[in-house]
Amino acid sequence: MADRRSAQWYGGDDRNSYIHRAWMRRGFPADAFDGERPHIAIANTASDLTPCNAHLNEVGRSVADGIHRAGGIALNLPVVSLGETQVKPTAMLWRNMAAMAMEEMFRANPIDGVVLLGGCDKTIPALLMAAASVDLPAVVMPGGPMLTGTFRGTPLGCGTDVWKLSEEVRAGTLSSAEFQRSESSMIRSRGHCNTMGTASTMGLLAEVLGMTLPGVAGTPAPDSRLLEAAHATGVLAVDLVDQERRPSAVMTRASFHNAIVALAALGGSTNAVVHLLAIAGRLGVELTQDDFDRIGAGVPLLVDLQPAGRFLMDDLYRAGGLHAVLAEVQDLLDPSAITVIGEPLVSALGVAQVYDREVIRPRQDPLQMEAGIAVLYGNLAPDGALVKPAAATPALLQHRGPAVVFDSVEDLHARLDDPSLEVTADSVLILRGCGPKGYPGMPEVSNMPLPAKLLAEGVRDMVRICDGRMSGTAYGTVVLHVAPEAAAGGPLAKVRTGDTIVLDLENRRLDVDIPADEWAAREPSAEAAKAYATPTRGWEKLYVDTVNQANTGADLDFLLGSSGDKVARESH
Ligand code: FES
Ligand code: MG
Repeated sequence: MADRRSAQWYGGDDRNSYIHRAWMRRGFPADAFDGERPHIAIANTASDLTPCNAHLNEVGRSVADGIHRAGGIALNLPVVSLGETQVKPTAMLWRNMAAMAMEEMFRANPIDGVVLLGGCDKTIPALLMAAASVDLPAVVMPGGPMLTGTFRGTPLGCGTDVWKLSEEVRAGTLSSAEFQRSESSMIRSRGHCNTMGTASTMGLLAEVLGMTLPGVAGTPAPDSRLLEAAHATGVLAVDLVDQERRPSAVMTRASFHNAIVALAALGGSTNAVVHLLAIAGRLGVELTQDDFDRIGAGVPLLVDLQPAGRFLMDDLYRAGGLHAVLAEVQDLLDPSAITVIGEPLVSALGVAQVYDREVIRPRQDPLQMEAGIAVLYGNLAPDGALVKPAAATPALLQHRGPAVVFDSVEDLHARLDDPSLEVTADSVLILRGCGPKGYPGMPEVSNMPLPAKLLAEGVRDMVRICDGRMSGTAYGTVVLHVAPEAAAGGPLAKVRTGDTIVLDLENRRLDVDIPADEWAAREPSAEAAKAYATPTRGWEKLYVDTVNQANTGADLDFLLGSSGDKVARESH
């Protein structure tokens, strides 16, 4: 019998191997357990409550066909799924729980490899974190984005246009009936959000990290080519097991370098920063938030997709897709990074072509010269904060203005539209208590709505600062992921309405302009502390007690690193 991992369950003729085999017999012939065929789990995040992933059962069947064709045994393994738009208070609260549950099931089960089916925002990060910590041969099959829907003759971008249309309703320029009518135009088909939000970003970055069959990422969910790719991914999974090519061999420091370059050129989601840091943390790859600023700094923004730009994922695919973008910045990529097929990522780029120069801009004529995510430090963010210049108003990136502070999301909603709120277009809106511990789960609330009276005056962007995250589909001059968060003793808890805030992108600073001794002596707001989460049991308690801050990926402190795939003891 070959020394496959699954043979530790099925090999031999003792009582335990009998038990492991016998209960699996339903439909499997005896030679399924002869040790020749790799047993491959299809880690499936399909769920009716994760609408963006609801089609993954069909994708999984194509993967299974591919596995069978290549001589493997395909095993559907439903895993914890997270519907970004459905779960409260925020899907991010359970990214680590999903990753932990997936990790444990990959390790505990008789499998030799795993195909990771994800799509909606947290699902691909959680799958990759889990796969990294078990380090079994693994390949991602991304579920793909939705087709473009149109409303009033104009394409609608998932998420991005919700923010825009809802501001129009608040400004009185769109009726609420029309607003509701746009819902089914926005979500036109199966698949995940079609903007360059977190799902699109992480699907594409999974490929840049080397973890998909080259050329797959960005294929629209309803496209026939997605199922073809799923089939090919199944075939590849069998080969991966035979080659014993593990995530730790694929996702190296070089792969993360390339992911950061791609993130900038694509204009990808700020959420990718916490996800990539968390995945790297599982692999033991040294990666810091500063790497995103440093490596991303010289990278031009080439892709004109919402929320930063105009087009949607279907357009990117039509225009040549990820490879066409990577080919433009090939000189910035680390050529040593390999993919799951065992070849360098860059070797797949030779045939890439751009078919629409409006969607994918030439290197010499980018949308923006410097597209990276900037990391700011200062007396407001000792461990850093992020801003995505590509999604911001350039004039606001050097700004000085008075703080208007909100102690919680509820406080924000209660007072924001109050006509007596003292706020001008120069004010800096600050929202605290929204970090990993404070909320809990670091929700996507940093892109606060603007005060109604300013909207009515035509103001469309203001400087906003928060210890939470922002939806990858959102836009604006938003400073986010402030670390440490207010609830973890961060100085954001000390700011008062009226303090002068200085945002200085050029020098990468975020400060309160206040004498140092006065700032040091100031107490954190007791009012703000009342809103911080204080769970007493269950996942929330474990999470709040052990979650790391955003600047290192917001993983649980005891989940860093890998435990490998070994299981020491028998079950009977
Ligand atoms: Fe699922 Fe946007 S809500 S990807
Ligand atoms: Mg999101």
